[in-house]
Amino acid sequence: MEHFIHAIPKAELHLHIEGSLEPSLMFELAKRNHITLRFKTVEEIKKAYQFNNLQSFLDIYYEGAQVLIKEEDFYDLAMAYFARVAPQNVRHAEIFFDPQTHTQRGIPFETVINGLRQACLDAKEKFHITSNLILCFLRHLPETEAIKTLDQALPFKDWITGVGLDSSEKGFPPKLFQRVFEKARGNGFIPVAHAGEEGPAEYIWEALDLLKVKRIDHGVRCFEDPKLVDRLVEEQIPLTVCPLSNLKLCVVDQLKDLPLKKMLDKGLVATVNSDDPAYFGGYIEENSLACHQAFQLIKDDIYQLAKNSFEASFIDLSEKQKHLKDLETVYQKST
Ligand code: ADE
Ligand code: ZN
Repeated sequence: MEHFIHAIPKAELHLHIEGSLEPSLMFELAKRNHITLRFKTVEEIKKAYQFNNLQSFLDIYYEGAQVLIKEEDFYDLAMAYFARVAPQNVRHAEIFFDPQTHTQRGIPFETVINGLRQACLDAKEKFHITSNLILCFLRHLPETEAIKTLDQALPFKDWITGVGLDSSEKGFPPKLFQRVFEKARGNGFIPVAHAGEEGPAEYIWEALDLLKVKRIDHGVRCFEDPKLVDRLVEEQIPLTVCPLSNLKLCVVDQLKDLPLKKMLDKGLVATVNSDDPAYFGGYIEENSLACHQAFQLIKDDIYQLAKNSFEASFIDLSEKQKHLKDLETVYQKST
């Protein structure tokens, strides 16, 4: 089974590129950019990665991102992610980035997007991984700031597939971001949003009805509302679940408390993703292995999760079919 989890082609749909900043690269970039970190060793950083909720993580995540200054830093960050997941048979990645984390510190939007874009192009050549970029608005900041960020992104819209909504969820409901999402949709960006991670099921309704999202990021609290679950099943709205993230951020006490198996059994389009792998102790393969152990997933479940990952992706149909065919080949060979 471990080999099957490893070998199966997969897509990652919920990955914050800033959350893939490994401590070793953080030190390297800090040195390169003459920044003094409050940590002296990799071990010291890792020790600090003890979280009791989303906010306790976000504080340290925004701190870590401060080492990213130049275009090449963003490039190196994204290339390190691609290099890490290529051996895990990730064939496609939809990558969140948080421009406001950087523009607020005086880093130009162009610096961020140019570095990430070049890495996406090179990853296709070097690792045969395709990718899409999804710009996330920080929901703890006002909508006016999100609109400014969207305006900065418009000249680069051919490089950006979608928009998302992340950061502190509780107290910052999707309804606060209706105007910016409307403008983004009008400009051809595909909308997604984090909802139902720490926030209530009501935020998932709002993301669907007011922001008109095509996927829900996390969504693990959907079972608090059976009517919502019916809707998610009926409309086949994908949920990008991040198991090790939910465990590390104390959304659940133990992995087996997550409704992942229940989602699959109900016919929800659930996928397994890594969220912020450098902070939560695992990339997509480690997340899948942890789920296999926690839920006694069988081969068909793993196959279904991988199939969902391609079906829920924003790649075009011909690409999708190619991936699904490869997936089918690996699955058939293994049975
Ligand atoms: N930004 C990075 N990771 C996040 C998460 N899990 N939830 C909300 N915002 C995030
Ligand atoms: Zn996330």
